[in-house]
Amino acid sequence: MCDFRTSTVYQIYPKSFLDTNGDGLGELRGVTAKLDYLKELGVDYLWLTPFFVSPQNDNGYDVADYRQIDPRYGTMDDFEELSREAEKRGLGLMLDMVFNHTSTEHEWFRKALAGDPKYKDYYIWKKGKPNGEPPTNWESKFGGNAWEYVPQFDEYYLHLFDKTQADLNWDNPEVRSEVADVVRFWMAKGVKGFRFDVINLISKGAFEDDSQGDGRRFYTDGPRIHQYLRELNEATFGQDPGIITVGEMSSTSMENCFRYAGAESHELSMVFSFHHLKVDFMGNEKWVLVPADFHKLKDILFSWQQGMAAHDAWNAVFWCNHDQPRVVSRFGDEGTYWKQSAKMLANVIHCLRGTPYIYQGEEIGMTNAGFTDLSQYRDVESLNHFQILRDKGMSAQSAYNILNVHSRDNARTPMQWDASPNGGFTAGTPWIGVNPNYTRINAQAQVGDPDSIFTHYQTLVRLRKEYGVIACGDFEALDPGHPAVLAYRRRWQGDTLYCISNFYPKPCTWTCPEALEGCQVLLSNYPDARASTALELRPYESLVLLRRS
Ligand code: GLC
Repeated sequence: MCDFRTSTVYQIYPKSFLDTNGDGLGELRGVTAKLDYLKELGVDYLWLTPFFVSPQNDNGYDVADYRQIDPRYGTMDDFEELSREAEKRGLGLMLDMVFNHTSTEHEWFRKALAGDPKYKDYYIWKKGKPNGEPPTNWESKFGGNAWEYVPQFDEYYLHLFDKTQADLNWDNPEVRSEVADVVRFWMAKGVKGFRFDVINLISKGAFEDDSQGDGRRFYTDGPRIHQYLRELNEATFGQDPGIITVGEMSSTSMENCFRYAGAESHELSMVFSFHHLKVDFMGNEKWVLVPADFHKLKDILFSWQQGMAAHDAWNAVFWCNHDQPRVVSRFGDEGTYWKQSAKMLANVIHCLRGTPYIYQGEEIGMTNAGFTDLSQYRDVESLNHFQILRDKGMSAQSAYNILNVHSRDNARTPMQWDASPNGGFTAGTPWIGVNPNYTRINAQAQVGDPDSIFTHYQTLVRLRKEYGVIACGDFEALDPGHPAVLAYRRRWQGDTLYCISNFYPKPCTWTCPEALEGCQVLLSNYPDARASTALELRPYESLVLLRRS
């Protein structure tokens, strides 16, 4: 039973992981230097965000060459060394493939701009409207219209993200074959997994104005998406059962995910969906301040758990990544209950049905950046939206308050290794500010401490391997209407697991619909936790209970 069900993936943002040459940017050698730490945590796969040649307008998600390592991150020799050293420790590398778009500095786009018709058709071009407006009113995810005008063609190209990230034309079979070549190139280097960036946006539908929204309904889970994924699967990773894949699915539907990640669909191993992380948005609008809706959070998590299980499809389960604020700041407590809330949030995710993902620093309870000035921000999305909010007349302070909560830079501050200057991340000047709380929150202070957040994560990773019920059990929500408690049950081959968590700092009572006496406490965030049917839960208290038949 050693497959992705028993595995845990650890996500590395190399730029912010470890700098070994003092230039302020982390690189591949930094990852190699920390493999023993990752081995100690017990994870199985390392997802590395893109380190390919790139102008870095979107921190590497704007790829200019899929086969070369950006010198800022190292060399191919460094990659091969990392790969060898990871393999020695039983860790698989998972690469991040950005195929919805390329950088406008990619050779294909440069040739397109030079007028080569073969390469022009690698991208999506349209004429403007007769009134001089762009072809459609679609909005870029990073703000502004999604079309960029090119005078020499009197046409616009589509960019769903930054204007330096031009969308590829997947309807062109040559594009699909180029992409498959890239995947095979990295398979030949021995990588063990792939994460496909915004992969459900690759098949565009009608190019029409969206009178109801920002255009996403015309290109999300588009008309030929399943065909393209099955083709890619068959031409590449589908030939090697040892490879795991995860698709990043933007604004997707569950029905589509049944197919993307269905056991029999020959598309992907699993999917990231994001609906549970929009519970502090207003609809799809992220740049607002609204309290998180706990009932919505439970509703979404639970319905995805049930739906995917009922269709034999597999979720990636997670709170954090390089695009999300830090979860302890978002749904937990940075202050008095920092440790308890971080452990509670870990239990909630790691006992679910799906493959858990840990984002660097989450395992030590890293918090949001706490930036107070625009000069501290680096992320293109944050910088653009700050300006958009200001243009709408919002005060700088109110715009900062929103960035503070939602900016992607919250997740991108350097990994806090120890209490030395810059948290041990760099001997130089870090490319983005280190959170000053590194003197208190750092890996060195936690590894080996039985009560630390790190040890708690380590235990969760191990329990998934030891107990089939965590890896393979079914899923049932318990008392979903409770105002403060998130609880569920898993069952497998006579074992029953309960995960019960108080999501709030206030103590509360909770009565389980099933008798819990006699259950073993597998894990908790309070040392003296006990199983009983009527529970008095302390602030953020969380229990993982097991009954064996
Ligand atoms: C994904 C990445 C994000 C990037 C975007 C465009 O959402 O996770 O970081 O900006 O795709 O490639």
